[in-house]
Amino acid sequence: MSEKGKCGGSAGCGSGGCSGNCESCGEKGSPKQRIEEAMSRVKRKIVVLSGKGGVGKSTVAVNLAFALAATGAKVGLMDVDIHGPSAPKMLNLDGMTLASNGEKIIPVEIGTLKVVSLAFLLQNPDDAVIWRGPVKLGVIRQFLSDVDWGDLDYLVVDTPPGTGDEPLTVCQILKDAGAVIVTTPQEVSAADVRKSVSFCRQLELNILGIVENMSGFVCPHCGEVTEIFAGGAGETIAEKYGIPLLGKIPIDPAVSAGGDAGNPFARINSETPAAKAFAGVVKAIR
Ligand SMILES: Nc1ncnc2c1ncn2[C@@H]1O[C@H](COP(=O)(O)OP(=O)(O)OP(=O)(O)O)[C@@H](O)[C@H]1O
Ligand SMILES: [Mg+2]
Repeated sequence: MSEKGKCGGSAGCGSGGCSGNCESCGEKGSPKQRIEEAMSRVKRKIVVLSGKGGVGKSTVAVNLAFALAATGAKVGLMDVDIHGPSAPKMLNLDGMTLASNGEKIIPVEIGTLKVVSLAFLLQNPDDAVIWRGPVKLGVIRQFLSDVDWGDLDYLVVDTPPGTGDEPLTVCQILKDAGAVIVTTPQEVSAADVRKSVSFCRQLELNILGIVENMSGFVCPHCGEVTEIFAGGAGETIAEKYGIPLLGKIPIDPAVSAGGDAGNPFARINSETPAAKAFAGVVKAIR
């Protein structure tokens, strides 16, 4: 084992694993101290979660971060979906890489929005990431401690589905974060929302509310609402557990088109039912 302050290039050296004030890699303070210091400069942390995949977590996280930054707030977006990072694609940042100033990792910036994603570390975006829990934990800790987030009004975290290593690590570290749970209306989603609620309660994480996404389809021609996925899972669970329902966002082709084109739908058309519903979600969270 290396002497404190001199890990000498041993495992962990330069990767957030040094014991503190390392002479070999120049890390200052223990990883825990560095996280505390970096996160003390963030006013509000918001973790976007769901027990289920494909319900719109990344869409909500990216558009929330974008919409908050559009108000002039200083916002960080941290994409910890290690196996399927979406934020770069949704913000037209594919191919970007993270630079370092020798001390800190420099996030990719769009105006007042700072973005960090694992995708920025991959040589080829199509590479599969085959990492076990401890490695994922190390990367997430490093994103929190060693990125030059500076002073932020909000840090929005996009997580992969479920209650695995990534959301667990983030929520255990960011104890003062608020959770936004995303779901779709189907009855089968209800069980997943309950799991997400239970996850937050076990970790004593404040739940800001539930977003029911893909909640009906509004005909662009006649305005009639078709309940493609019946069930109202988000609304029902919100009522049952006394959790705020932040909004119901309908299915809108512009939402997925915006995501695919790297153009957040919140920016495209503020008059559509989906954009209005999303603006309500942002207002409820701010
Ligand atoms: N309200 C909506 N209307 C139309 N398409 C939507 C809507 N919400 C999300 N989508 C689309 O659904 C797909 C899945 O959304 P998204 O990637 O945000 O889900 P996710 O929960 O982050 O998925 P994963 O679990 O894989 O991380 C995307 O193509 C997105 O553009
Ligand atoms: Mg996602």
